[in-house]
Amino acid sequence: MASRKKCLVLGFLAFLWAELGIKGKEETEEQTCRLLGKFDLNGYVDAKNHSLVIGGLFDIHSRTIPANESVLEPVSAKCEGFNFRGFRWMKTMIHTIKEINERKDILPNITLGYQIFDTCFTISKSVEAALVLLTGQEENKPNFRNGTGAFLAGVVGAGGSSLSIAASRILGLYYLPQVGYASTCSVLSDKYQFPSYLRTVASDKVQSEAMVRLIQHFGWVWIGTIAADDDYGKYGVKIFKEKIESVNLCIAFSEIIPKVYSYEKMRRAIDAVKNSTARVVVLYASDIDLSPFVLEIVFHNITDRTWIASEAWITSALIAKPEYFPYFGGSIGFAIPRADIPGLKEFLYDVHPSKDPNDVLTIEFWQTAFNCTWPNSSVPYHVDHRVNMTGKDDRLHAMSDKFCTGEEKLEDLKNTYLDVSQLRITNNVKQAVYFMAYALDHLSRCEEGRGPYVFGNTCAYIPDFEPWQLMYYLKNIKFTTHNGMTIETDENGDVSRGYYDILNWQLDDNGEVAFVKIGEYTFTDSKFELVMRKNATIFWNTESSEVPYSVCADVCRPGTRKGIRQGEPACCFYCIPCADGHVSREPGQRECEQCGEDYWSNAQKNKCVLKEVEFLAYDEALGFTLVLLSIFGALVVLAVTVVYVLYRHTPLVNANDRELSFLIQVSLVITLLSSVLFIGKPYDWSCRARQVTLAMGFSLCLSCILGKTISLFLAYRISRSKTRLISIRPLYQKIIVLISVLVEIGICTAYLVLEPPSAFKNMESQNTKIILECTEGSIEFLCSMFGIDIFLASLCFLTTFVARQLPDNYYEGKCITFGMLVFFIIWISFVPAYLSTKGKFKVAVEIFAILASSYGLLGCIFAPKCFIILLRPERNTHELVGGRVLTIDKSIQPTLASVSSELNNTMASTVEDD
Ligand code: TRP
Repeated sequence: MASRKKCLVLGFLAFLWAELGIKGKEETEEQTCRLLGKFDLNGYVDAKNHSLVIGGLFDIHSRTIPANESVLEPVSAKCEGFNFRGFRWMKTMIHTIKEINERKDILPNITLGYQIFDTCFTISKSVEAALVLLTGQEENKPNFRNGTGAFLAGVVGAGGSSLSIAASRILGLYYLPQVGYASTCSVLSDKYQFPSYLRTVASDKVQSEAMVRLIQHFGWVWIGTIAADDDYGKYGVKIFKEKIESVNLCIAFSEIIPKVYSYEKMRRAIDAVKNSTARVVVLYASDIDLSPFVLEIVFHNITDRTWIASEAWITSALIAKPEYFPYFGGSIGFAIPRADIPGLKEFLYDVHPSKDPNDVLTIEFWQTAFNCTWPNSSVPYHVDHRVNMTGKDDRLHAMSDKFCTGEEKLEDLKNTYLDVSQLRITNNVKQAVYFMAYALDHLSRCEEGRGPYVFGNTCAYIPDFEPWQLMYYLKNIKFTTHNGMTIETDENGDVSRGYYDILNWQLDDNGEVAFVKIGEYTFTDSKFELVMRKNATIFWNTESSEVPYSVCADVCRPGTRKGIRQGEPACCFYCIPCADGHVSREPGQRECEQCGEDYWSNAQKNKCVLKEVEFLAYDEALGFTLVLLSIFGALVVLAVTVVYVLYRHTPLVNANDRELSFLIQVSLVITLLSSVLFIGKPYDWSCRARQVTLAMGFSLCLSCILGKTISLFLAYRISRSKTRLISIRPLYQKIIVLISVLVEIGICTAYLVLEPPSAFKNMESQNTKIILECTEGSIEFLCSMFGIDIFLASLCFLTTFVARQLPDNYYEGKCITFGMLVFFIIWISFVPAYLSTKGKFKVAVEIFAILASSYGLLGCIFAPKCFIILLRPERNTHELVGGRVLTIDKSIQPTLASVSSELNNTMASTVEDD
């Protein structure tokens, strides 16, 4: 429908232009030329007796009636939907021109006329009006400045941006000055496209920026937008979106209200509002376009939304009705500054259809306002050709059957036309007219030779001047209005400084919607400031009556971070808990930070805490038990020593290589007590001491045992060969001990000097803890150190194992074999146990192995002897201990001592023999 209408209009225009174009050629041939059709325009003209006229474009109707589709030739559409607000604006222009004409200080010798057209809030009518302003339909000759017979100085208007744009594309071709009073669309600032357009209203660039500031002020981040399907809505929302995204806020949805009712399009917009979690919606639309949307919102009962209003509907009586308050109450919006216009009220009341029977607009005003039909009028009353909301096509052709009497009282009327409490755009109209008047005034005051134009500083003269000559003055104008405001435009023709009132819809005591000022947004070329009134109470249309909360996802708590939701705006996110060792301290963090080396995250992941330090301490149960065990072991060894000292004269002790036994006891004390060095906080010295003492202890112990077993082995060889006795003196036994100990000392010293073990903070093996442990230093040295011990132990085992077959059934040999087996088993099982544990238990495993092997040796070597010494003293005789006696009693075993003492004797004799 819309496109068809557009085609018709364009066709009509083409036809008109063609007519005009041909005219020039035909003139000579035919001399007469006739227009085939005429534009159907309404308006007011007062051009007679005036040398200059100012054109005016106002939206006195809201829409055109869709053309009958069966008619193919282009017809100029008719209008419907009387717009009281536009009617007031138009009246204001007439009033202002009258005022100027009466003033002596502006244009003293010249009076202004006007030619005003109704644009019906449609582009096509706006273009028609622009053309008529330029040409005049009664004229044969196109004279692009003269439609009424008087010179056209410039045009005031139009209302909606799209209309101004359309008109300006034509007027701009001639550089004809055009001063807008309401069109705020940002593209109109573009002087390449609209070179002769100026306005007394700020661009939507300022308003969109102001909206973003307001949204930031209340902390909303998730905003929906609804735009009218025209330049105003679309460009307004476009700039708003750009600005909102630049401050990292997000658009929840962005929908368009159709100009011509379409169920699907309207449904889409309504569904978006209904289904979105955004509680705050920016609505960029003129009140005329907005009304069907408002009805839908009421129809779908959508409450609990806060609407951010653009200047076009914030104070509109069309929307601010008490019945819409449950849905639109609490709306916040920006309004153009309000002003009082002296004398306007009286002028507005001075309207009556009887004054001029041809004044169809006034008749329609009267009919619509009083819901009656003016006698003999052909003006339809309240015609509505729109498809209605529910989608049904029940078109209204209502003519009220009540006749107007003419006695109706305007005073009784509650109508936006007569409401002079919110004169905002109305005041802009007045300023626009003054703008034009002041420019003309300046032009008229030009002094010859001091004029602004190049080539001789010439002047222009009223009425015969070129449009661009007036443009020069318009561009440089600065004037003060009746209420003290200074009006000045920047290089783009926009007002360069001013303010918006920030209004909030509240319900007053009479149940009417009141626009309460809650703040102000002031702007100059370089500065913008949002000032909210401190003591202003804002009405919020929310369940809680508190500031609405409009977010896509709640701010992430400390301890979590934002996680992207694929394909959704940045304001929508998941909250993902920080990984171990990472924290987020502030709410809403994008990333978690890693804790420092010595720190780890707490359970809530909102703080880094010092890592727990782990080592086997004395004061914990495990460490304490191990210390007790090792001291107990040492005491047991001491007890054995005491027994040995007390019974040193008994054959068993005496005969039994006392020194070596004592050495073994000493070494066992060393190994047992060395385990204490493994407990407690590791330091460099304790790390070094523990390994070395342990290795030394074992090497001393094992070498002494080896000393003993070597004698056994030799005795066995003697018993086997029956040849010459190979003997070993006790001194040699000690030399073996000495050599092994010296070798061990050598390795230990090299180890300690070259690559000693050291204390070390192990951060890797467990995340939450720092394990204090010892490093091995050089593995090679460590292995060789304990390698010697293993070597000695293997030798002990081998020698006693071979000698176990001694015919005399050497008891001690078996004990040592057994002791060595225990030793091996413990240390072999130690390896996997050690490797599979971590932290302090690793150390504990090692201590267990040390204690167990020490206890094992203690038990295997000394326990049987002590048993005999203390409990079976009758067996502790020289005979039993001494000679190579075959056992009488199986239970009494000859000991290693007996063998060696016997050997000593033999050897002594052998030596004597030699
Ligand atoms: N600012 C609107 C635009 O640029 C025009 C406008 C302002 C308007 N207030 C209005 C239109 C009220 C209709 C009704 O399009």
